[in-house]
Amino acid sequence: MVQITNDVLAHSRKDAEWWRTSVIYQIYPRSFADGNGDGMGDLQGVTQRLESLAELGVDAIWFSPFFTSPQKDAGYDVANYKDIDPLFGNLADFDALVAKAKTLGLRIIVDLVPNHSSDQHVWFQAALKAAPGSVERNRYIFRDGKGENGELPPNNWESVFGGAAWSRITEPDGSLGQWYLHIFDSTQPDFNWQNEEVRIEFDSVLRFWLDRGAAGFRIDVAHGMIKVDGLPDVVANNSTMSGQDSPDAIKTKETDEELIARLQVENPFWGQNGVHEINKRFRAILDEYDDRAMCGEAWVHPLSRMARWVRPGEYHQTFNFGYLETPWDKDKLHNVVTESLKEFGAVGAPSTWVLSNHDVIRHATRMAYDQIPKQGDGIGPKYEQPDEAKGLRRARAASAFMLGLPGGAYIYQGEELGLPEHTTLDNQFREDPTFFRTKGERVGRDGCRVPLPWEAGANESNGFSATGKSWLPQPSSYKRYARSEQEGAAGSTLELYKQLLKKRKAHDMGNGEFRWAPEFMDESTLAYINNGILVLSNFKGDPVVIPAGEILATTQHDLTIEGELEHDNTVWIRL
Ligand code: GLC
Repeated sequence: MVQITNDVLAHSRKDAEWWRTSVIYQIYPRSFADGNGDGMGDLQGVTQRLESLAELGVDAIWFSPFFTSPQKDAGYDVANYKDIDPLFGNLADFDALVAKAKTLGLRIIVDLVPNHSSDQHVWFQAALKAAPGSVERNRYIFRDGKGENGELPPNNWESVFGGAAWSRITEPDGSLGQWYLHIFDSTQPDFNWQNEEVRIEFDSVLRFWLDRGAAGFRIDVAHGMIKVDGLPDVVANNSTMSGQDSPDAIKTKETDEELIARLQVENPFWGQNGVHEINKRFRAILDEYDDRAMCGEAWVHPLSRMARWVRPGEYHQTFNFGYLETPWDKDKLHNVVTESLKEFGAVGAPSTWVLSNHDVIRHATRMAYDQIPKQGDGIGPKYEQPDEAKGLRRARAASAFMLGLPGGAYIYQGEELGLPEHTTLDNQFREDPTFFRTKGERVGRDGCRVPLPWEAGANESNGFSATGKSWLPQPSSYKRYARSEQEGAAGSTLELYKQLLKKRKAHDMGNGEFRWAPEFMDESTLAYINNGILVLSNFKGDPVVIPAGEILATTQHDLTIEGELEHDNTVWIRL
């Protein structure tokens, strides 16, 4: 009989719980690498460039959707959950990718979009052809309109992308008919998650990808699937991913219970209690497998509320949007880290840390501003243009601060190059539905989705594709940021990220013992110690003397242990 020692058990548990400490790299498939030269990124392009991610030192890759889709919301409008869109390749390409990733020690995470489908999904097409009240319509949220002839939407809900959250259909007999709910674009009808048939269908979608080797899921709109019965009006529309449930809407005197109860009434489609039942159902399926994980995209505040998504038996992780939304500000960062560790810790979950993704202004640009537009609105040519150097300097300091924290971290493709947002993109190229639904008033998220520059000057897309084509044009600055310019270049953002990830792993900081280090802080700095490594950031003003020790990583190019840390820089020191 084989003796299983405690050591072996501890080790296998650690491996099975890889998500507690992992650094996960987000690939936006349209924009990572184009393998066939059509200007659109694809799976073969990713597979060809996979070594670059192993070299960077990440543990897993989360892919934004690559499923069959008319691409009305860049793939977050799924027509077939069990196939790959020809734009990105096919299932064999996915299998090849997973196989190669395995040899490089990289896990592959798939994006699951359960809140809504594409209007081209067979179920929605069948619903359009069926009668009101039919089984087919009951998979989505169809209602009669208000007004004398049903000419008004059933309630006052607004789409996150602007305009009403309802569209009226033409019935098969040609008459104007019922309305259907779409919290996002009109091409993204919301599923009716009160219907068991929808739940069963998604059980099989999860198993499909898990059986194919996916390490887990990032789950889209994980706070939106349940709507309050009767679909009552919202108290105040605010069309963002968290509705009026924003940090500002939180009244300090309320208890958590009061706050959550109030927000659930005020916004009947975000963060309803019924969602937790779905979380558990997903989790039970993942638990049928040995080592899979799921991360929820739940835009809810405050963090104590978000922590409810990661209670035992629910999600493994959620994106820490409270952290993402925190500016480069010493006191605010201190608070959000303390609160995150406390709230997630209280339910036994690791905190995650994230600064950028495909829905927000890249942090290298965001941090150049004191105030930025609302999440999802983007920055266009008419907006005050950023101080690029200031943004980059702060972004590097912020990334180095983030990557030393214990828990899981997310990196959005291109941030390891220090890429800025494309803030001067010509409107003719825009694809984000937000731009169209608001008639250009909100430019939307295209500026953070621009294809990556690989080889400076190789062609018009700096090597993103062999032909130079790219579905969104790069700004001229991207040539400077190309990977080829940074590879091996001392002090480059790419080398900084590699060094941070290497040291993070070497000192097991993802799993580390964290404490604030007030003995190393003054009015312009923050400092913490994680597994014996001091992470020190200077936020403003004069340079500060750094303590004795070994410099493991630094955002300040010429820093020596006898030197001083300038503002908007971070250093890691082994004490
Ligand atoms: C999520 C995605 C975003 C998408 C939306 C609708 O927020 O991250 O890109 O537009 O859901 O699916």
